[in-house]
Amino acid sequence: MACLVRYGAVTKLGDMSGPEFRRFGHELIDWIADYFENIDNLPVLSSIEPGDLKAQLPATPPQTGESMEQILADLDRLIVPALTHWNHPSFFAYFATSTSGPGILGELLTAAFDNKAMLWRTSPASTELEEVTLDWLRQMMGLDPGMIGIIYDTASVSSMHAIAAAREGVEQRIREDGMSGRPDLPLLRVYASEQAHSSIEKAVITLGLGQRGLRKIPTDRDFRMDAKALAAAIEEDKRDGYLPFCIVATVGTTSTSSIDPVPEIIPIREQHAMWLHVDAAYAGSAAIVPEFRSILAGCERADSLVTNPHKWLFTPFDLSVLYCRHMDLLKRAFSLVPEYLRTPEQEKVRSGSDYGIQLGRRFRALKLWMVMRYFGHEGLAARIREHCRLADLFASWVEESAEWELMAPHPLALVCFRARRSSLPEKELDALNEAIMHGVNSSGRALLSHTRLNDKLTLRLSIGNIRTTEQHVRQVWELLNEQLRRAE
Ligand SMILES: Cc1ncc(COP(=O)(O)O)c(C=O)c1O
Repeated sequence: MACLVRYGAVTKLGDMSGPEFRRFGHELIDWIADYFENIDNLPVLSSIEPGDLKAQLPATPPQTGESMEQILADLDRLIVPALTHWNHPSFFAYFATSTSGPGILGELLTAAFDNKAMLWRTSPASTELEEVTLDWLRQMMGLDPGMIGIIYDTASVSSMHAIAAAREGVEQRIREDGMSGRPDLPLLRVYASEQAHSSIEKAVITLGLGQRGLRKIPTDRDFRMDAKALAAAIEEDKRDGYLPFCIVATVGTTSTSSIDPVPEIIPIREQHAMWLHVDAAYAGSAAIVPEFRSILAGCERADSLVTNPHKWLFTPFDLSVLYCRHMDLLKRAFSLVPEYLRTPEQEKVRSGSDYGIQLGRRFRALKLWMVMRYFGHEGLAARIREHCRLADLFASWVEESAEWELMAPHPLALVCFRARRSSLPEKELDALNEAIMHGVNSSGRALLSHTRLNDKLTLRLSIGNIRTTEQHVRQVWELLNEQLRRAE
């Protein structure tokens, strides 16, 4: 029997022993529980300099195994200081997100089972749990039963698949003949607002449509797609020989969380028989709160919609859900079954690999199922509702203050604002706000991010972390005011 020589002793091949796994498994769960109990005391933003971590790690791989004690000691010593703590309750940047206890335990089980859910038979549990869990989520969001869900890693990938299905629907034999060297193929075009996420442009690039395959539609003063401008753009493109085939509306844009007027977009999409994809990556979760369900008004006529439980449903990254009304087109775009993947039951079951570029798929549904069962619809909705209340509260402080101003409406839990000084020219005002943000972020006590609105540097405060309380929001408000006084 082959053996390894380790620290002079003869070690059998095979995995870590059961007792050792048990010991370090328990230790790590304790470690994680301590991490969450003490997370308030950690700096939100890592303060290391680029290259610091790499400089402390050996450049060559370990020749012999190391003990778990050594590995875990390095976790504390090297890895934790190099983390930006997304689970910190004062993380208000980008879209604030967080994991949760049941989500972490679900992820642990996914790693233990290590299923590759490419075919139904390679993981019946993953395939069927995904179908059931996504149907629960569909019901919670108030989407109609015609919307069938499928999990991808991220919204970027979900949207890319949706646009690929839309492209398959134009019946131009693109799957068979491709797009290059084809004088018979008109230029295909996708439409999204100027505020749409960059993932839409990346999807268009990935699908071979080129950047000019995306036409960006102007927005109104509230950063919502201008439906009249959309209609005019499509008419103009048709006259110019383009083939408009897909509109992407955003419910919850990245910069301001603005909501495109889907009910006004529907008649345009119907007139031109185009696919309507809704990017609700961030805001979709809010639709599980009955009083916010109207954010999805009109989406009952959409062809596809993406929402990210890893953003605002307390599910660890990554888990994005694409709801699609035309699973046949999605399958037609991606299914390719070589002999070695054929199974007797294939006509009766769903196999995830038929609906995307990946063959093997992680068992992601497990963590979402555990999160949904543990908190329940009411528990999840209550947390999202509280985040929106806290955002309203913060926005009211901004509104009441002579020193700050709101820069956009805040329909959900994201507030766009900045310090104001009527005496300062715009450039200096930008610099002042940048200095405030830098001061807050480098303090380690909170993390904000920024955007540009109407060419003005704008600070963003996003509330979405399961541990964020009113006290954390009060603290960041005090910190902002402290930094404002210091920056002047
Ligand atoms: C509206 C919107 N769409 C798409 C994305 C991309 O999400 P992901 O990181 O899951 O690809 C984001 C990310 O913040 C987003 O805000």
